[in-house]
Amino acid sequence: MTRNCLPQQLVAALAARPTTVALTGAGISAESGVRTFRDAQTGLWTRYRPEQLASPDAFERDPRLVWRWYQWRRRTIAAAEPNAGHRALVELEKALDSFTLITQNVDGLHRRAGSRNVIHLHGDLCSNRCQRCAAPSAHEDNETVRPPRCTRCGGLMRPAVVWFGEPLPASALSAAAERIAGAELVLVIGTSAQVYPAAALAEQAVAQGSMVAEINPARTPLSAKVRWRLDLAAAEALPRLAAVPRRPSAR
Ligand code: OAD
Repeated sequence: MTRNCLPQQLVAALAARPTTVALTGAGISAESGVRTFRDAQTGLWTRYRPEQLASPDAFERDPRLVWRWYQWRRRTIAAAEPNAGHRALVELEKALDSFTLITQNVDGLHRRAGSRNVIHLHGDLCSNRCQRCAAPSAHEDNETVRPPRCTRCGGLMRPAVVWFGEPLPASALSAAAERIAGAELVLVIGTSAQVYPAAALAEQAVAQGSMVAEINPARTPLSAKVRWRLDLAAAEALPRLAAVPRRPSAR
């Protein structure tokens, strides 16, 4: 390890400005005050598991309940700010010639931090789509307690995110797989690496021989397979990593 606790070989690899992909999960937003998925639910929602609310069946059974849960999450996220981890990924995007951010998060904090080249695997909490005809619409009001109706077909609008049992947007998934295929270095940040197909992207990187670094204070099913494990919070590790390609010696 170097003095600032980064593995020396990882520092050397990053200093050579490799083609880099960052794959993020809920952990990167933890220090912004957004709870991760596998944390216990809080407040009003302790009786439910996210899997019981984030599914087409749940919405069919009780659309108002599901809508209210998402409205609560939207209010939490609206009150949150990007943290040093999000900002460090913006710095990496600026510093490296080829950098792609692939995220499982729907909170929009990468975009608010200023990341440009972002592939959203699980959709976007800031928009809605019709559950019946799939017509999209912007989301405007975080306070309404029932889902609005589609202006096209009268169906119920729902958050434009991927639910359990639903396929990921094909274009996002194929773009992500393509970027991983070309990646020399992959940073896997703040994901439990349990939800597929996103978790398969990290496995693809390991299998093809890319250099893979996992940044997560807890071990995951991926931990034993990666080249480097950084047992640190994202907001601690990423600013140190982002400083590496900016150093004069790297040029
Ligand atoms: P999880 O909640 O499953 O995992 C969050 C991970 O972040 C855990 O491994 C934590 O150890 C780690 N973590 C916590 N704090 C951290 C910090 N400060 N820095 C770095 N890591 C930290 O979230 P995801 O893996 O993103 O899907 O979950 C994947 C998908 O499951 C989500 O996108 C969501 C959920 O169902 C959909 O909404 C479709």
